[in-house]
Amino acid sequence: MKFATLVALAVALTATASPLRSKRALAKRDTTTPNATQILNYALTLEHLEDTFYKTYLAKFTESDFTDAGFAPWVRGRFVQIGQHEAEHVAFLTSALGSEATAACNYSFPVTDAASFVALSGILEGVGSSAYLGAAQFISDPAVLTAAGSILVTEGRHQGWVQAAVEKEAPWSSAFETPQTFDEVFSLASPFITSCPSTNPALPFVAFPNLTVTPATPAAGDNITLAFSGNSTGAFLAILHGLNQTFVPISNNSATLPAGLQGTVYAVVSNSSSAVADNNTIAGPAILQFPFDSSASNP
Ligand SMILES: *[C@@H]1O[C@H](CO)[C@@H](O)[C@H](O)[C@H]1NC(C)=O
Ligand SMILES: *[C@@H]1O[C@H](CO)[C@@H](O)[C@H](O)[C@H]1NC(C)=O
Ligand SMILES: *[C@@H]1O[C@H](CO)[C@@H](O)[C@H](O)[C@H]1NC(C)=O
Ligand SMILES: *[C@@H]1O[C@H](CO)[C@@H](O)[C@H](O)[C@H]1NC(C)=O
Ligand SMILES: *[C@@H]1O[C@H](CO)[C@@H](O)[C@H](O)[C@H]1NC(C)=O
Ligand SMILES: *[C@@H]1O[C@H](CO)[C@@H](O)[C@H](O)[C@H]1NC(C)=O
Ligand SMILES: *[C@@H]1O[C@H](CO)[C@@H](O)[C@H](O)[C@H]1NC(C)=O
Ligand SMILES: *[C@@H]1O[C@H](CO)[C@@H](O)[C@H](O)[C@H]1NC(C)=O
Ligand SMILES: *[C@@H]1O[C@H](CO)[C@@H](O)[C@H](O)[C@H]1NC(C)=O
Repeated sequence: MKFATLVALAVALTATASPLRSKRALAKRDTTTPNATQILNYALTLEHLEDTFYKTYLAKFTESDFTDAGFAPWVRGRFVQIGQHEAEHVAFLTSALGSEATAACNYSFPVTDAASFVALSGILEGVGSSAYLGAAQFISDPAVLTAAGSILVTEGRHQGWVQAAVEKEAPWSSAFETPQTFDEVFSLASPFITSCPSTNPALPFVAFPNLTVTPATPAAGDNITLAFSGNSTGAFLAILHGLNQTFVPISNNSATLPAGLQGTVYAVVSNSSSAVADNNTIAGPAILQFPFDSSASNP
C-alpha cells in the first residue's frame, strides 16, 4: 500500500475520535536516524541481553523447578529452543557486523524462580518484537530488512508461545503489534544492563526517566497513580497499543486508563496530546498487561 493511501486510511479511521483522543499514528516517532551499523548493533544489544537471560536461568532452573511451579514437563525444553534461537541471532548479527559488533554486557534481571523467569521471558520477547518492528522503517537494504523481518516473526512466535501455551493468555494484543522507537526500547532495556565493555560502540539512543504505575497491574478503566521525574503540568499519559495512541490527561499525578485495553500496552508520559514522539516524551515506557481470554481451555 502506498504511504499516501495509508495516511488517508489513518485519517478516515481517526475521524470518529473519542473524547479520549485515540488515534492511529503511523508517522516517524524517533528523534535519531541511525545508520545501518548502529541499527544492527542496536539489534545485537537486545539479542545479547536475551541470550544471557536464557543461558543464565536455564543453567539455574531444572525441569522440576518448572513442574514444581505448575508448568508442564515439556515447557523447559521449549525455552531451551528459544535460548538457542537467541544465541543464533547473536552469532548472525555478530558475523554481519564483523569488527564493529558490540559485545555482551553484564546484566541484572528480576528473576527469582521459574514463574518470574516465564513472566520476564514473555516481556522480553514482546519488547524484542516491538523493537524490530519500530526499526524497520530505518532499514533501507532489502537483504537486511528481510533478515530483520525473519527474526521479528520468530520473536513474535516466542512471545505468542509464552503467553498462550505457558501463561494461558491470549497470544496477541490486537490485530496490530506495537512498534517502539529506539529510545523507548533503550529505556526498557537499560535497567537490566549493569555494565558494558568500554570498547563497545556508543549508540545514538537515550533512555527516558522511569515511569512507575501504581497499582502495578491495574485493570482497564482504573484510576492509576504515576511516579516519574519531569514536568507533570499539562502532561498526558499516552497509551501505545497496536498502531493506536490513546491520550488521557494527568492530574495530580494520576490518570484514568481507557476502558477496553487488551494484552500488552506501553504507556509513556508526553506533553503532546496528539502524537507521541521521542522529543515530547517525558518518562516511560511502562509496560501494562491486560490479559484476556485467560480461561481458554485449548490455547
Ligand atoms: C485503533 O483506533 C481505531 C480508530 O480510532 C479503532 O477503529 C480501532 O479499534 C483501534 N484499535 C485498537 C486496538 O484500539
Ligand atoms: C519531534 O519529532 C518528530 C518525529 O521525528 C518530528 O516530526 C517533529 O518535527 C519534532 N518536533 C520538534 C519540535 O522538534
Ligand atoms: C555509522 O555512524 C557511526 C557513528 O557516527 C560511524 O562511526 C560509522 O562509521 C557509521 N557507519 C556507516 C556504515 O555509515
Ligand atoms: C528505574 O527503574 C529500574 C528498575 O525498575 C531501577 O533499577 C533504576 O534505578 C530506576 N532508575 C531511576 C532513574 O529511577
Ligand atoms: C562484569 O562483571 C564482572 C564481575 O563484576 C567484571 O569483572 C567484568 O569486568 C564486567 N564485565 C563488563 C563487560 O562490564
Ligand atoms: C484518581 O485518584 C486520585 C487519588 O485518590 C485523585 O486525586 C484523582 O482526582 C483521581 N483522578 C481521577 C481522574 O479520577
Ligand atoms: C511545565 O509544562 C508547562 C506546560 O507545558 C509549562 O507551561 C511550564 O512552563 C513547564 N514548567 C517547567 C518548569 O518547565
Ligand atoms: C492529590 O493526590 C494525593 C495522593 O493521592 C491526595 O492525597 C490529594 O488529596 C490529591 N489532591 C487533589 C487536589 O486532588
Ligand atoms: C515537552 O517535553 C520535552 C521532553 O521532556 C521537552 O524537551 C519539551 O521542551 C517539552 N515541551 C513543552 C512545550 O513543554
